Amino acid sequence: MIHKTEENIYLPKIATIKDICIENSQIKTFILEFNDQKFNKSFSYNPGQFLMVSVPHHGEAPISFSSTPTRPGAVYLSIRKAGKLTGAMHELAKGAAIGLRGPYGKPFPMEDLKGSNLLFVAGGIGLAPLRSVINYCLDKRAEYGEITVLYGSRAPSDIAFAADIDSWKKQGVSCSLTVDVAEDGWDGPVGLVTTLLDNLQSDNSNTTAIVCGPSLMIRFVINKLTAMGFSDETIITTLERHMKCGVGICRHCHMDNKLVCDDGPVFSVADLRGLDIAELGA
Ligand SMILES: Cc1cc2nc3c(=O)[nH]c(=O)nc-3n(C[C@H](O)[C@H](O)[C@H](O)COP(=O)(O)OP(=O)(O)OC[C@H]3O[C@@H](n4cnc5c(N)ncnc54)[C@H](O)[C@@H]3O)c2cc1C
Ligand code: FES
Repeated sequence: MIHKTEENIYLPKIATIKDICIENSQIKTFILEFNDQKFNKSFSYNPGQFLMVSVPHHGEAPISFSSTPTRPGAVYLSIRKAGKLTGAMHELAKGAAIGLRGPYGKPFPMEDLKGSNLLFVAGGIGLAPLRSVINYCLDKRAEYGEITVLYGSRAPSDIAFAADIDSWKKQGVSCSLTVDVAEDGWDGPVGLVTTLLDNLQSDNSNTTAIVCGPSLMIRFVINKLTAMGFSDETIITTLERHMKCGVGICRHCHMDNKLVCDDGPVFSVADLRGLDIAELGA
């Protein structure tokens, strides 16, 4: 006879898609509630953490919260169609059920960031986890300093989270957008997100930079921030690696002596210096 001593950590909880917001041709935001309403009410997480998302027959993938825990009752997952699991998610309609397990991973150090100015630098879907932090800070406005968002997209039609960006601007956030390639009607900057750093007017003392995007973008942004005088302790980034367990057991997300799922996905550059990883130019 098998005695069940503890909950199976790999067993997902069932959640229902309550709504879907189309961010662009590749990204949708899914608004989800756990079917167990008591669990849904008490569920908590922190910005920067992630869930393992599963769709029957299509496996699992890690996805960051794009909602803030300051607005409980539903979780938002913003998902870019990249492959098997994320492609299957994009086929689902309102009312469909999926599996979620978590929250996992180390979050952004929201307590330590109190009183600092925050400079967010994002590329593409990288704005999803930062949306969680930005809305968290706006909900606790008095606790954080000036907020600046620099966001790079491939083309104007790829700009995601447009409604959020409009709302942030109305709340006093300085938002600058750039695109790699212009399209008709675009009169904003063209160039990599690092070019927006060249035009920053503000004083960077007492500022922490928070970076999220593709690994090459992270590398160029870290180099630029370092050249601008940011110390390794004041640059925070999130990293992505292919995951299996999400909880520090399988070592699939291994990176030198660190695991992205358990030691991260949020790291300061000080945590990463010396590691042989693409994001630092190795
Ligand atoms: C902590 C964390 C948070 C994340 N948050 C988000 C988020 O908020 N939103 C979002 O859209 N994405 C997010 N991602 C990325 C997402 O998990 C990946 O895009 C995931 O691989 C998609 O799964 P899939 O089954 O759809 O793709 P897959 O079918 O696994 O394929 C995706 C791509 O990766 C390649 N690939 C697959 N397996 C491997 C492997 N073992 N080695 C190398 N290449 C491989 C495939 O060839 C394909 O090009 C996050 C990742 C991490 C680690
Ligand atoms: S995903 Fe298994 S150890 Fe990180």
